[in-house]
Amino acid sequence: MNPKDSTDFSVIILAAGNGSRMQSKVRKQFLELQGKKILSYSIESFLSLSNNIIVVLPSLEDKQGLPVDVSLKYVVGGNTRTESIIRGLDHVSTPYVLIHDAARPFVTEYIVQEVLRQLSNYACAYPVMPVVNSIVMDKNDELVATPDRSVWREVQTPQGFQTEWLKKALEHRADEHAHIPEIIRRMGQQVKHVQGSPWLFKITYAPSLYAAEHYIKTQGKENERN
Ligand code: CTP
Ligand code: MG
Repeated sequence: MNPKDSTDFSVIILAAGNGSRMQSKVRKQFLELQGKKILSYSIESFLSLSNNIIVVLPSLEDKQGLPVDVSLKYVVGGNTRTESIIRGLDHVSTPYVLIHDAARPFVTEYIVQEVLRQLSNYACAYPVMPVVNSIVMDKNDELVATPDRSVWREVQTPQGFQTEWLKKALEHRADEHAHIPEIIRRMGQQVKHVQGSPWLFKITYAPSLYAAEHYIKTQGKENERN
């Protein structure tokens, strides 16, 4: 089966978080950039790619002002990211599924196709980026180890799964914060990394809003260079 077909895969957009690190009154996924909610950017990107998109929200009242389309369902999430995935997965019956963070507004068709392409051969695939800063291990505010940064990667979304493997991983998870692809790897499946993009950054702290504004104003011209 070719997962590039829009009827073969569903998309779960995770937008049920509290955005606590942003420290804004409005949850970060509902903040507006150039007059449009951050969440709406990813919804619009996926609308042209899949006909089953599930948007997981803190409550159904939050769907006010969001796009309306036959391909879109709005559902309520849970207390953790994993619980929100499970709530979204109830509405998935396609062989492949992509999980995307609403806090990453600039997903491109190129990266979606790159991830989907891998799902013919892999149970799970997702974009990664090299780590920019030095990584150190801390204990009680003191250095205890310095790993070799060159082998470490930061994980981005969309994370793609063969749906049956995502379901199996969720059944076998030890705790709410387990990295789902790691569970799949431990079940004996290979997990594929594809090259991510600096523009797939996650809006987390206030300064990332300025980067996002800049991206929109320059109409993604930087993205073409990366
Ligand atoms: N998310 C979710 N349900 C949760 C927690 C997170 O759907 N219970 C979503 C967030 O809305 C976000 C994505 O998962 O789009 C990535 O999570 P993160 O960036 O950590 O967002 P928050 O958990 O909302 O932010 P913070 O950790 O700063 O509170
Ligand atoms: Mg969080």
